[in-house]
Amino acid sequence: MGNSPKPQKINAPKGTRDLYPEDLLRQRYITNAWRDASINCGFEEIAGPTFESTELYSVKSGDGILSELFQAFSGKSEKEIEQVQSTGQAPYALRPEFTPTLARMYAAKSKELPKPCKWFTAGPYFRAERPQRGRLREFLQWNCDIIGTNSDGHGETMDAELFGVVVDLFRSLGITHNQVRLHFTDRRFIVRALLKYGVVEDKVVQTLNLLDMRGKINEHEFNTQALTLGLDVESFDKAVSEGHDTEGFLGANSIFFTDELEDVLGEEDSKWYRWDSSVVRGLAYYTGTVFEAIADGERAVAGGGRYDNLIELFGGPPTPACGFGMGDVVLGNLLDDKGLMPTGAQLMDAVAKPQASIRPIAFVVTGDESSDALVHTLVANLRRGIESQSYQSRGDRKPWDRDRYAVAPMHTRISYKSTRKVNKLHDDAKKQHARFFVEIKGLDQAELTNMDTRESLGEFSIDPTAANYVGKKIAELTS
Ligand code: HAM
Repeated sequence: MGNSPKPQKINAPKGTRDLYPEDLLRQRYITNAWRDASINCGFEEIAGPTFESTELYSVKSGDGILSELFQAFSGKSEKEIEQVQSTGQAPYALRPEFTPTLARMYAAKSKELPKPCKWFTAGPYFRAERPQRGRLREFLQWNCDIIGTNSDGHGETMDAELFGVVVDLFRSLGITHNQVRLHFTDRRFIVRALLKYGVVEDKVVQTLNLLDMRGKINEHEFNTQALTLGLDVESFDKAVSEGHDTEGFLGANSIFFTDELEDVLGEEDSKWYRWDSSVVRGLAYYTGTVFEAIADGERAVAGGGRYDNLIELFGGPPTPACGFGMGDVVLGNLLDDKGLMPTGAQLMDAVAKPQASIRPIAFVVTGDESSDALVHTLVANLRRGIESQSYQSRGDRKPWDRDRYAVAPMHTRISYKSTRKVNKLHDDAKKQHARFFVEIKGLDQAELTNMDTRESLGEFSIDPTAANYVGKKIAELTS
């Protein structure tokens, strides 16, 4: 009789998850919502490797992420093994975030790529963090990034567009602005305040890291470290909380940004965001707007910002860019807590629902500059859909209810070309393979054209409450 092996219990690694069928469906509910929101807002999906050269992260991610890298090596080459033994540093790392990969990918092909590029991706990421509520060692992250600007070069419009995607995602899941807010500030503003109140140039990044840790370490420790970095905490706090200092120069950019936000999100949506100078973010590459989506008592649900130097650092042309990442862990906690995660048959139905059309459905333009605001509003309405009255009037409604939408959210694009020539805009729509061309004419009308048959279908209303709302017509034609 041979020795039969002793049974051994091997646990899953700390900070990972085993997903059984219903767990996986719950995760799919989240990833489907991510996909739909990004596709409807005109983002295209990309993917990169799950492990990268360690150097990729040393360039510009910052100490926080570097100290949390899961290291990797093939074990196939003597050189690698020697390197690991002598330096303790492996040549590869499991990816802790996507942004450096994206910058590398963009830099490698920048000449051939459209401007701007709107990219999204969702997949697993790894950080050797101490596991706690909302933070694991393996998690899913959804990224949306806009690289390059429109021909006007107004990057801030892109920041506002990103906010729009985050808000659409929350809305689609039934989350309200009472439950989550987008807290934003501008790093240029914070950095100017740091330089003014005692920090020397060389210590700025370190001080930003300290400010990012502020809510997580005790006050005494914060003050001691701030003192060694030279920061006059009291004056700094006063200036940033007021959004300006006595000379009034610090907050100039934020004011511009808020205007842009209102254009894209509409005044009504301004309840979703709030200027908050305590959000400085831990990553080193941000250069302008930074933001986090925060729910009471939870770790950030999403975080992002503008990183105008990163593409160049990876060998590409100078290219402004911005984006955000959202994790599935905090979002899942939030949905559970608010009763916004379906179960059983409702979960199955919700996950089996048809997904957003990869092909753009509507392409909205105007030849008239004075109608730009109407374009923004119509685009926002088409992307987020129009809820039915029966749904809105029901007290116990749930976001996955079948009768939720009178007009379902649809994949809607705009042109980033500065031209006002409608035939040029039409060419752009054709290049992007849109099905319907919607040209806003005057205050409340739009002409609808079927791009496949080139047939004009007549004029329709851009008012979502009107019986002949253009979105309703398109929905009928595509159902
Ligand atoms: P981040 O703030 O490090 O930003 O991560 C973004 C989101 O990913 C967080 O708000 C959180 O939801 C999720 N997340 C991060 N770490 C963990 C963890 N250990 N466990 C669970 N969830 C986690 C970035 O990663 C930037 N690269 C985002 C970005 C994209 N900036 C520009 N483009």
